[in-house]
Amino acid sequence: MEAKVGTVKHLTTIEPPCPARSEILPDWAVRLLGWFGHHQRVLPWRSDPSPYRVWISEIMLQQTQVATVTPYFQRFVARFPTLRDLAAADLQDVLKLWEGLGYYSRARNLHKAARFLVDERHGRLPADFHALQKLPGIGSYTAAAIASIAFGRPIPVVDGNVLRVFNRFWAIETDIRLPRARTDLFERLAPVIQACSPPDFNQAIMELGALICRPRNPLCPTCPLAADCLALRDGRTTDLPVKSKPAKVPHHEIAVGVVVRGGRVLIARRREDQMLGGLWEFPGGKV
Ligand code: ADE
Repeated sequence: MEAKVGTVKHLTTIEPPCPARSEILPDWAVRLLGWFGHHQRVLPWRSDPSPYRVWISEIMLQQTQVATVTPYFQRFVARFPTLRDLAAADLQDVLKLWEGLGYYSRARNLHKAARFLVDERHGRLPADFHALQKLPGIGSYTAAAIASIAFGRPIPVVDGNVLRVFNRFWAIETDIRLPRARTDLFERLAPVIQACSPPDFNQAIMELGALICRPRNPLCPTCPLAADCLALRDGRTTDLPVKSKPAKVPHHEIAVGVVVRGGRVLIARRREDQMLGGLWEFPGGKV
């Protein structure tokens, strides 16, 4: 029977994780993969990790929590089951399905990339980490997730969750806003992911960051990495990772005109290259 979405999947597909290579995997990675085998959540893109579904899920998961994404993902793949269906769709229909999820440039980029792939690449996503990054909306983090989860390539994913887990685990003091924090961690994780199953390794760390090594109140007593965690040993889980204050978010005063004539209301479409590009609004502008 299919388990319910969001529940924990009691499956042990990876225990021991990679028998042939486990002698070169550090103990903590063996424990991490064992933990993931038992405690990973059942998520709709995990039951069928086709490149198209992994791509859609990873784009939706940018800046957005799993619980929010799940119903959007299900509606999206029900309406556009394949990359070709997405490419053939009207952009306005894609944006309509995205309504409420935010960061609408993600939907526009998905649609643009789908059209490009159908026109120029036989309707297939590339497996290569660098080729993926040439597509609209795919940066290095999303390319690593797709290359590893959908194609089994040994590329470490380094996102905010992963930085938190390992900057605690190894007591790394680098400010996680610095690009160096990501590149250094990528280098440290590359040999580990090469020694085991890339889809499991990356998803296990992301899952650990979401469920156990949380920003506040981490659940250290149940963490598979606790035995070697330097932040836990030194009582520093609240101090790590180091993260500098963000730049101030700009605020703008705006004015709009509501023009009604004959029961009709005037609305205007924002330019594609702006924030919230392509969406509709009352005409107006910054004061
Ligand atoms: N966040 C981003 N990608 C994820 C994934 N594949 N699983 C869990 N959390 C994620």
